[in-house]
Amino acid sequence: MRIVKTAAAMQKLALTWRREGRKVGFVPTMGYLHAGHVSLVTEARRRVGLKGIVVVSIYVNPTQFAPTEDLSRYPRDFAGDRRRCAEAGADVIFFPTDAGMYPGKAEGRYSTYVVEERLSQGMEGGSRPTHFRGVSTIVAKLFNLVLPDLAIFGAKDWQQAAVVRRMAIDLNFPLKVLVRPTVREKDGLAMSSRNKYLSPEDRELATVLHRAMSAAKAAVNLQPASAKALKSSTEALVNGQSSGRLDYVEFFDPETLEAVDVVKPGAQMALAVHFGKTRLIDNAAL
Ligand code: PAF
Repeated sequence: MRIVKTAAAMQKLALTWRREGRKVGFVPTMGYLHAGHVSLVTEARRRVGLKGIVVVSIYVNPTQFAPTEDLSRYPRDFAGDRRRCAEAGADVIFFPTDAGMYPGKAEGRYSTYVVEERLSQGMEGGSRPTHFRGVSTIVAKLFNLVLPDLAIFGAKDWQQAAVVRRMAIDLNFPLKVLVRPTVREKDGLAMSSRNKYLSPEDRELATVLHRAMSAAKAAVNLQPASAKALKSSTEALVNGQSSGRLDYVEFFDPETLEAVDVVKPGAQMALAVHFGKTRLIDNAAL
């Protein structure tokens, strides 16, 4: 497995693969890889075959964090990530620096961003107004450097996947955006690099996200329910049965992300919950 550290070297390599007609599968990550990421790398390998190339990028992208967020304490473990990538069948880790990804930014010269204007509103975009501008920008840049045929994202970040898929269509990136199911701990907690921040008590109570989604699913499978009523019962469950504080809960069409007033089976539910300084998100089809 090869480690590539500069944007120029990454793009040169990608152009070589393109000339050779090799299929490239890409998994963008911010590192601190867990079983959810590994499932994406394994799927990339399965899709491109043994002659294809699997690239994993590991880059904690500063532009998707607000100044008040956890950029400086975001967990990192390059040695562990390297081992997990190798075991899952990656060929290349792209591990760039801030100066490489945002040339001239430290000197105030970097000035180009990519903004998706519709799907990025609300939910994560409502709570973190600059987040998707950072995500779309870095993903577009990574697509230009890795030149993948397919890029794989996790369903835990449902809105992110929708924004990236839209951006890839709107900006004519010649690639497929694929989304793989969320990988969960045995008790239902979605795997996330941020779970590491939770105290043992909060870790136990963090199953409340999954419990809230199961409760909503059970309710709408009995009969359609109003989004307003489901939001109130979710808020009561989260704030009452855990140390968490509900940031938002939304019910929406899984494709368009448009909010629904009457929630029926097939609608998507997403929520974000604060446990102290740690913010967890999750979503599920009802
Ligand atoms: O989902 C993530 O880990 C990040 O948002 C991504 C897609 C790697 C962009 O930095």
